[in-house]
Amino acid sequence: MEKIVILTGAGISAESGLGTFRDEGGLWAQHRIEDVATPEGFARDPALVHRFYNARRVQAAEAQPNAAHDALARLQRDWPSEVVIITQNVDNLHEAGGAQGVIHMHGTLAGALCAACGHRWTAPPEMAVGEPCPACAAPTARPDVVWFGEMPYHMDAIYDHLAGASIFAAIGTSGQVYPAAAFVHEAMMSGARTVELNLEPSTGASSFDEVILGPATEAVPRWVDQILSSQ
Ligand code: APR
Repeated sequence: MEKIVILTGAGISAESGLGTFRDEGGLWAQHRIEDVATPEGFARDPALVHRFYNARRVQAAEAQPNAAHDALARLQRDWPSEVVIITQNVDNLHEAGGAQGVIHMHGTLAGALCAACGHRWTAPPEMAVGEPCPACAAPTARPDVVWFGEMPYHMDAIYDHLAGASIFAAIGTSGQVYPAAAFVHEAMMSGARTVELNLEPSTGASSFDEVILGPATEAVPRWVDQILSSQ
């Protein structure tokens, strides 16, 4: 039976009230990437970076999964073969909607990381500058999210999943950040059928066999119903 591999981006959480990055008025219109999403920015002004992620952590903790998150969890439950969800998002709405084994390639807001020794622990709701690492006590705690210029997490596992995909779906992502933007090509080389579900065509829309436009809370449940009825 066919393995389904799904990549999600900020668009799947937009209707849960969490901001996207590149839409009108998005996060990158409000903040400079070099200030809040690079190691250099953190070294230059850790307080600014903690403020940025503290606000997003508090907002994400209050957000609820939407019908798109719920539909993907239903697909995992009802599809007879493997359904792997790879997300660029750092919120936990896939898990809150019941999804299992979600691969967070950009880390999560729930995680804290020691920039000195690499120790990981669960982040407090608000992180402060100079917070000591529980393992080495160095004052180098940072959010455990992947910044520009850093390697995304779990890439070996991700490429293995893409190599075995029969169906690849990209949901709510603008397709502007690599390596995620190239996953559709990896899946196609494995012979997968590819579909994009997005509010508007992404930068890479022409690479997909099919493009389904609309808000995720409408398009994703409908697509899941169609996939399950195709068994
Ligand atoms: N339903 C479906 N798609 C939507 C919705 C919605 N309700 N609202 C917005 N979108 C789409 C937008 O059209 C856009 O194509 O979601 C996409 C969001 O794109 P980005 O804001 O670029 O977010 P994303 O693709 O996840 O960014 C990837 O870039 O800055 C880094 O680390 C950050 O993980 C992020 C990565």
